[in-house]
Order: sequence, then structure tokens, then C-alpha cells
Amino acid sequence: MVDALEHLQPPNTLRLNAQAQALRSVHSVAEIESALAWARAQALPVLPLGEGSNVVLRPQLDALALLVRLSGRELLEEGRDFITLRIGAGENWHALVVWTLSRGYYGLENLALIPGTVGAAPIQNIGAYGREVAPFVVAVHARRVSDGKQLTLSAAECEFAYRDSVFKQALADSVVITHVDLRLARSPATNTEYPALRAALDARGCGDDVNPQQVFDAVVALRRARLPDPALEPNVGSFFKNPIVSHDRAEALRGRYPDLPVFPLDAQHCKLAAAWLIERAGWKGHRAGGVGVHPGHALVLVNYGANAAPVLLALATEIQATVARQFAVQLELEPRVYGVAP
Ligand code: FAD
Ligand code: EPU
Repeated sequence: MVDALEHLQPPNTLRLNAQAQALRSVHSVAEIESALAWARAQALPVLPLGEGSNVVLRPQLDALALLVRLSGRELLEEGRDFITLRIGAGENWHALVVWTLSRGYYGLENLALIPGTVGAAPIQNIGAYGREVAPFVVAVHARRVSDGKQLTLSAAECEFAYRDSVFKQALADSVVITHVDLRLARSPATNTEYPALRAALDARGCGDDVNPQQVFDAVVALRRARLPDPALEPNVGSFFKNPIVSHDRAEALRGRYPDLPVFPLDAQHCKLAAAWLIERAGWKGHRAGGVGVHPGHALVLVNYGANAAPVLLALATEIQATVARQFAVQLELEPRVYGVAP
């Protein structure tokens, strides 16, 4: 473990200062095995990281930060209608979407331009513009932190839900994902029901029979127009999940706020737009103490130069409190928070 102590700041798109007790990049399963064995010998917890685009890192991380960099795109099975790919956890997600589209493997186009790695995609079941990764996942391969054992989870065992999976519940922070198997279609079957996507396609003059490339292009344009670039304004995308409430509760709120956006989920539940609640509570564009709420999208908190997590988390807590007071809705954090303030 020679390279552990040289550089201890893990990458994170919020650009928060954090020092891990040890840090190591791993490029193969063998390197993961040896890093896990080392961490066990030191009695150190392990924090697997991809590109740090969905984490809030407090200044001190009492863990071995493991930067998962496994590459590889393997064609496991090629059927008439579907193909199955095995992708290394360290592959960049958007690069994979571009590559699959160029090969005529369809399904991921709505998920274009989501930052981060393939290995992190199942963790919160990434989703955007009417699609989630869950229906494409056949299996997730991982190593257990406690003993290095190889685990393979079927899609059902991943327990995918909105921005949730077994990796945030029963298996939270206890496995390192090494590969993800994805099943994609060989013929285009686009999903353009998400209202903003449909409107963007209409504005581009696309008819009903849009192709995956047109969906990809529209999603990329929408995302560039709506979300700040973390390289310029450090952020983790949505800071809160959209709250899930009963239809009755949503209707009651709509009675008071007729323009409240409500998205149907299932027979009992719907999703409210957290961005709308935060904007209505007066936070959009707020900026103080080096952190703020983006003026273009109220769900995005930005580190304008505070550089440490506590001030950002304090802002998040204030936002939660005012939204709870005004709408009686509890906002839940989307990114994972790690570490302690020294
Ligand atoms: P990290 O931030 O490094 O890690 C996130 C979590 O996954 C941590 O708990 C970490 O421990 C765990 N993890 C990472 N890799 C592994 C591994 N190999 N094994 C085990 N655990 C691991 N998300 C969406 O769902 N939809 C969006 O539309 C979206 N838009 C975004 C836009 C912007 C501008 C930004 C900055 C973020 C956005 N996100 C979105 C959030 C983010 O892109 C995803 O959550 C992404 O999957 C995180 O990938 P990462 O590699 O950066 O993970
Ligand atoms: N809205 C406001 N104020 C704002 C921004 C948006 O009122 O400042 C309203 C919009 O008018 C719209 C609604 O909120 O009616 C939803 O906005 P948007 O379409 O931008 O989507 P979102 O619900 O804010 C979710 C995901 C995003 C994903 C987009 C597109 C969550 C927590 N966020 O955002 O994911 O890209 O939909 O599908 O589910 C992420 O997870 O990090 C992320 C960016």
C-alpha cells in the first residue's frame, strides 16, 4: 500500500476540502482485493468513490477512500433483440451512453450527460427525463468490504426504487461494485413521455417517431440549459429528492397552491417538485457565506467558495426547515454525506 498517504483529498464536484485517512485508486479486482485486505488490517472503513458527483464530504474522512477506476466494456451476449454488456465500474457513465448509441444499442439515451461512473449508477438508481437505470440492469458484481467475498446481485436483489437501492439500505457502504451488467435493445424504442422532453422535441420539429439520437440530443440540450456545470459552479445536481406523498396530500396542497407541479408515481403516490417548493419558500438565488441556491434551478446548491461542508449542510437544514414549515413536507437529502468536522 505504497501510494496511500501521498494525496488524501478525494475528488468531489462540490470541491469541498476533505482529507481521507488513506486514499487509493484501484484499476482491477486484484487491486480492490488487496486494498480491502489492507483496510481490514488497519481496521479502517472503506469509502468507495467514483467521480464524487453525489457526495458531500466533511473535512475529515476516517476511512480508506477507494477511487474505483476499473475499465472495460465487454459484450456478454448478443441476441436478435437484445444485447448484454458487462461494464467496468470506473467507466464514465456519459461516455458509455455515447458509445452504446454509436453501436446501435438502445435505451440509455434519456440518461445522457449524467455525471459519474457506471459503478455508482445503481447506488441511487440514476434517473432523468422519464427513465431510470433499473430496467437495464441485469446484475451488479461487487466485493464485500468485510471479507472481500465476491457477490453478484440480480436486478431484483438490488431493490431499486426512486433514487434508492439496496446499496443505500441493507448494503450501504459495505460493498465495492466492480462491474454492472446491462441489457439494451437492438432496435430503437424511445420514451418521450416526460413533459419537458416532449416539449423540447416538439420545439425541434421532431414528430412522434423520434429516433434515439434525437432524444439524446434533446436531453443533452435540456440539461446544458437547466443545470449548472460543476466545473464552473461546484454542485452535485439535485441536493434533495423530490418528495413522495399520497394523492390526497398532493390534492390538498394543490388546493392552496394551484400551480404546484405534481407527477403521478403509482396508484397511491405522486412526486412533488422539490425545486418548486424551495423556490416558493424564497430560496432561489439566495447566496451567503460562500454557498447558495442556484438562480437557475432551486434544487441545486452551489459551493461558491465556502470550501467546507458544514456551511453547505447548514444551508440545506435551513431550507428543509422552511419548506417543512410552509408546506408540511419533509425534504430528504439526495447526495450521501460522509466524514466528520475535526
Ligand atoms: P460518487 O459521488 O463518487 O459516489 C456516490 C455514492 O456511490 C457514494 O455513496 C459512493 O460511496 C457510492 N459509490 C460510488 N462508486 C461506487 C462503487 N464502485 N462501489 C460501491 N459504491 C460506490 N443523478 C441522477 O440520478 N440523475 C440526474 O439527472 C443527475 N444529474 C446530475 C447533474 C449534475 C450537474 C451533478 C453534479 C450530479 C447529477 N446527478 C444526477 C448525481 C450523480 O451524477 C449520480 O449520483 C452519479 O451516479 C454519481 O456518480 P459518481 O461516480 O460521481 O459517484
Ligand atoms: N422548477 C421550479 N423551480 C426551479 C426549477 C424547477 O419550480 O428552480 C419546477 C419546474 O418548473 C418543473 C419541476 O420543478 O415543473 C421539475 O423540474 P425539472 O424538470 O428541472 O426536474 P427536477 O424534478 O427538479 C429531476 C431530477 C433530476 C433530473 C430531472 C430531469 C430529482 C431529485 N431530480 O429534477 O436529477 O435530471 O428531474 O428528469 O429527482 C439529480 O438527481 O441530481 C438530478 C439532477
